[in-house]
Amino acid sequence: MQDRRCSYGYKKVKRYIANTIDFSWKHMCNVANTCVGPSSGAGIQCNVANTCVGPSSGAVIQCNVANTCVGPSSGTGIQCNVANTCVGPSSGAVIQRVKDLRSRFDVITERIIKEHEEARKHKEIGEVQELLDILLDVAQDESMEVNVTRENIKAFIQNIFTTRTDTAATTTEWGLAELINHPDIMKKATEEIHQVVSESRLIQESDIPNLPYLQAIVKETLRLHPAAPLIPRKSTKHCTVVGYDIPANTHIYINVWALHRDTNHWENPLEFRPERFLENKLDVRGQHFHYLPFGRGTRMCPGISLALHLVPTMLGSMIQCFDWKDGEDGNLTRVDMEEGFGLTLPRAMPLVCVPVSRLDPIPFSM
Ligand code: HEM
Repeated sequence: MQDRRCSYGYKKVKRYIANTIDFSWKHMCNVANTCVGPSSGAGIQCNVANTCVGPSSGAVIQCNVANTCVGPSSGTGIQCNVANTCVGPSSGAVIQRVKDLRSRFDVITERIIKEHEEARKHKEIGEVQELLDILLDVAQDESMEVNVTRENIKAFIQNIFTTRTDTAATTTEWGLAELINHPDIMKKATEEIHQVVSESRLIQESDIPNLPYLQAIVKETLRLHPAAPLIPRKSTKHCTVVGYDIPANTHIYINVWALHRDTNHWENPLEFRPERFLENKLDVRGQHFHYLPFGRGTRMCPGISLALHLVPTMLGSMIQCFDWKDGEDGNLTRVDMEEGFGLTLPRAMPLVCVPVSRLDPIPFSM
């Protein structure tokens, strides 16, 4: 079995995304300011996923050509529609809704592409290229091994918009929920942050390499709550995998969720225990087949570096500054961990909790 299409143009685009994503992260706003504004310090309840979606989708949109035409809200709106569409009552209705959604998205992407085609006519050679410029270059290049069509470009943009914006927010939300349910782990994590970062400034991206326990918490969160629980592939030719015959052109779903809970590979798999990632140097980039939170191979997540900085920094700043009490009045002792339906394994119920300031004053400078 092989990964789907792979050509020079595709690799170029993917490298571009990976670089731009890393670059855009460096220009992102102060996470704590955005996620947990001063008012939350006063003990006002907040919906964690909604608050976190801001910076993470901001990062996506910053590195995305659609920036000016499709603002954050429409990106997120489309995403919600897709998720809703997937859990509709009957397949006929679902298919119709998907088709409607596709048509609506098509209008937006067609407009963006046309605007770019127009702008490209007046661009100087050597000017900085946006992602869409590169895709259009690739589409026009007749020497390409695989021809990139307008449809392919639209699908690519849609891919970034629909399933990639809330992965980091969902992971942060699950991570915080686990920490609220495990006060001992929360305590250890905040102690690490206070030791490495101190209380006088806010945690920042460059601190992450010095915070192994926080990193382990994020990896353990991705193990129990993988934002992409099923990874799709298609067999390009007939093959046999552990005795199973797989004909050519078969759609295959790799069940990452199940792999991450497989008792053959994980001791007490249902237990949230970040220490397992300190004891064993498990690779997060697809080298160990029982741990694939970002997939594997040529289609592996290009946003991995962004995600591995974004999630710990968001989660870290939230627990550095605040103690989180579950429930609208902060009076629940245990967060409900039921999973909901959706593309990115959301929580059944949003995590609504009350932040209580740990630090006074809250260090809003980095
Ligand atoms: C915790 C956060 C994230 C997780 C767990 C995650 C996970 C994944 C997974 C499992 C895949 C499929 C990989 C495969 O098929 O082998 C994927 C694909 C992808 N991810 Fe992420 N992702 C995250 C964040 C991001 C971010 C922040 C971005 C970019 C802004 C991003 C961009 C993409 C793109 C463009 C693809 C499609 C790649 C392709 O089809 O070739 N991801 N992601």
